[in-house]
Amino acid sequence: MSDKTLTAVDVLLSPLEQEEMIGRLTAMASALDEWYQKEGRQLPWRTDSTPYHVWLSEIMLQQTRVEAVIPYYHRFLEAVPDIAALSEADDMQLVKLWEGLGYYSRVRNLKKGARQVMEQFGGQLPGNIRDLRSVCGIGEYTAGAIGSIAFGIREPAVDGNLLRVTSRLLAAEGDITRPQVKKAFHDILYTAMSFFPSSLYPGDFNQAMMDLGSGVCTPSQPDCTNCPVREYCLACMRDQAELFPVKSAKKARRVEEKTVLVIICEDHLLLRQRAANGLLAGLWEFPSVDGKLTVQQTARLLESMGIETTRLVSLSESRHLFTHIEWQMTGVLAICKKGCSFPDGWQPVTLADLQESYPVPSALRVYRKAAVEWLSGFFCE
Ligand code: ADE
Repeated sequence: MSDKTLTAVDVLLSPLEQEEMIGRLTAMASALDEWYQKEGRQLPWRTDSTPYHVWLSEIMLQQTRVEAVIPYYHRFLEAVPDIAALSEADDMQLVKLWEGLGYYSRVRNLKKGARQVMEQFGGQLPGNIRDLRSVCGIGEYTAGAIGSIAFGIREPAVDGNLLRVTSRLLAAEGDITRPQVKKAFHDILYTAMSFFPSSLYPGDFNQAMMDLGSGVCTPSQPDCTNCPVREYCLACMRDQAELFPVKSAKKARRVEEKTVLVIICEDHLLLRQRAANGLLAGLWEFPSVDGKLTVQQTARLLESMGIETTRLVSLSESRHLFTHIEWQMTGVLAICKKGCSFPDGWQPVTLADLQESYPVPSALRVYRKAAVEWLSGFFCE
């Protein structure tokens, strides 16, 4: 592997460079398709291309790994089998079905989108990119994925995999975090797709690129020797695959320290609902306070709130990374006296309620586990 480093460029390609790139993509497409037909992953949303199923899978797959999505996909479709059912589903049920997948605005937008499809498109997802883009939650990538997979439209679905694979194939030094560069990749792929043989299904091309990106042309240590399109790949020929894509440095996440309070009162625990907007909007969480408190500090805090405790136990520390924020957490389990009163908005919840109805973010999984263990009598210090 070359030890050179590359600096991102703003990409503005000459027509000749663009033509060369389009030619290269067109030349590799059949070899890629042949590989995909033999080696492509068998995934539940690939065995039928019902537009609603493709839509749901693509929304779930944003920022989430395929293996994690599969059980959610089946459960969701069983509970919400079609767009009409989605448009009328209960919000809390939907968020519960999404619990653990993260990025919960996706499921809220999915429902808004379903309402829109019922009102504006007679309950059927539209089969063209412009109308797909008008549906809530469907951006450029998702419109390309649904359009190509469910409707056979020649449109690229430009996600991180496509950007990485394409940047390597073309040894393109544009900074893929820049919208202009992404647009240039989109346009080159779009034009290349118009030259593909009609036997090459557009959805298969996009999904082949995704499979290549996730299994072969991986972010680090790409498996170039087993790549079906290595003979077309400029970065591979130059032994530079790992130098692409070129990205500018990321901004560091903002760190937030907090103490999570797992408060138990008889056979209930206390949850509160997060604000309707912003991070983890509308989900339920344990009450928490800023900063890392010791057990003694927590005891004093609860006492100052008029909450009498009989026992306090320190829980382990944990960390959760969101896109722009990092939570650094510690936890305290507090057992309260019978008949305690709690601040407004703190909701007593039984173990069954927690498991069946209240969506709690996976960022809090360590503390949720402690609460479940306590309430079911299996808590070990
Ligand atoms: N990631 C996003 N969409 C995908 C798909 N259709 N198949 C595999 N991975 C994906």
